[in-house]
Amino acid sequence: MAHRDRWASRPAFIMAAIGSAIGLGNLWRFPMVAYRNGGGAFLIPYIIALATAGIPLMILEYSLGQRFQKATPGALKAVKPPFEMIGWWALGVGTTISFYYAVIMAWCWDYLACSFGQPWCDDPQAFFNRVLRLTDGPGQIGTISWPVLVGLVVTWALIYWIIKKGVLRVGKVVMITVPLPAVLLLLIFIRGITLPGAVEGLAYYLTPDFSALTNSETWLQAYAQVFFSLSLGFGILTAYASYLPKRSDITNNAFMTSLADAGFAFFAGFAVFSVLGYLAQSTGVPVDSVVKAGPGLAFVIYPTAMSLMPFAPVIAAMFFITLLTLGIDSAFSIVEGAVAGIRDKWNISQSATAGAFCIFGLLVGLVFATGSGLYWLDIVDHWMNNYGLVVIGFLECVAIGWFYGTKKLRDYINEVSDFKIGIWWDIFVKWITPLALGWALVTNIINEFQIPYEGYPKWALIVGGWGVVATIIAVAAFITALPGARKEGE
Ligand code: PHE
Repeated sequence: MAHRDRWASRPAFIMAAIGSAIGLGNLWRFPMVAYRNGGGAFLIPYIIALATAGIPLMILEYSLGQRFQKATPGALKAVKPPFEMIGWWALGVGTTISFYYAVIMAWCWDYLACSFGQPWCDDPQAFFNRVLRLTDGPGQIGTISWPVLVGLVVTWALIYWIIKKGVLRVGKVVMITVPLPAVLLLLIFIRGITLPGAVEGLAYYLTPDFSALTNSETWLQAYAQVFFSLSLGFGILTAYASYLPKRSDITNNAFMTSLADAGFAFFAGFAVFSVLGYLAQSTGVPVDSVVKAGPGLAFVIYPTAMSLMPFAPVIAAMFFITLLTLGIDSAFSIVEGAVAGIRDKWNISQSATAGAFCIFGLLVGLVFATGSGLYWLDIVDHWMNNYGLVVIGFLECVAIGWFYGTKKLRDYINEVSDFKIGIWWDIFVKWITPLALGWALVTNIINEFQIPYEGYPKWALIVGGWGVVATIIAVAAFITALPGARKEGE
């Protein structure tokens, strides 16, 4: 086949995969999910989910890309032609996530620009609403927020610049965007644990509540968190692995990526909860009431806490640079996953595909830059994470477990890897992982119809939730039906 793009080295690939995995989700999502689901005891279901679904599926996604030298749609097509559609579905979900992920990064740029003036001091919630020009509900579109628009343009321009020449530049950028947030977070952690009240905060995070382990919701959350955090089910890891030579290690890379991601998430909890403990003590309210998930943590609660510390502007700037460097390598990994899929099919140049994708992403992302953007972001995010990823993980297991043959793929993996995996992997891919995912899916759907998500109006959930899911499936079917371009040597 004609020359395929290649990573400069194995560390470049590993860093890029870790960069994709470690993202905004590690900093705000993991600590909150852990806190709500048994604190320290949550580590048990989390590690089990990592071992039973995270690592086996990561090995699967890596080996698909590397074995077939194609991004997700092409690799699944090689397994069986109709499966190409699963690949486009994965890329559709990833693409949709990139639209709003870039908007969250736009907020970070705005906050970074404001770090030195600290304009959020008086009323952080009001400041956040003002930056977003937030309206009262998804039905009130409002107007586009200019600061968010500027941040969005900066984000997409940066993504374009990083991926326009393929993975060589990606490999260089991640040598900065992976270690830098780790170092900054270490500094924030040191600052955090030396603040008064930090110990109470950490006690909240880590005190185990073993009764949570008997609750099925806890287990569901553990699986969902593992998927989101490892960037599984979006077609990214397969695309990244397709840029490795056919004879490169798989298992060791998968273990390193997963463990680095889990370790970072656990560590981030210390930085987050020590500061929350401090905030609770200095404002005299219990830790419970300052703990909220979602954007509220990064853009309301954390800024409040930082504004109370000495050297507030420096700490705030450090915090938002941490978020930006955490986010950017996750954001461009999604875009690269999609661009790789498109290029495999039609043989278009990297820079043209990347450019068109970024402009499209910017335009569609404008929806999330309006006054109602936060509501739509919340709805779309919920559906993509709860349905997109779980369904795709399930279908990937079925495709390999029941159609390609786990033994065949495992023989290949063991032939090229640093260490061998046993029959346990076959059992996971064929039975345990799909059963766990299928169960998560059914439970999710039942819950969805019982309680409207976050009390949003029904029409908004139909449009932003099921409507977006249906659109992605339709587009995936359409692209699958289109003829691809022939390449030399095929
Ligand atoms: N893994 C990233 C995080 O933890 C999120 C992400 C999801 C990245 C999907 C890419 C694709 O934040």
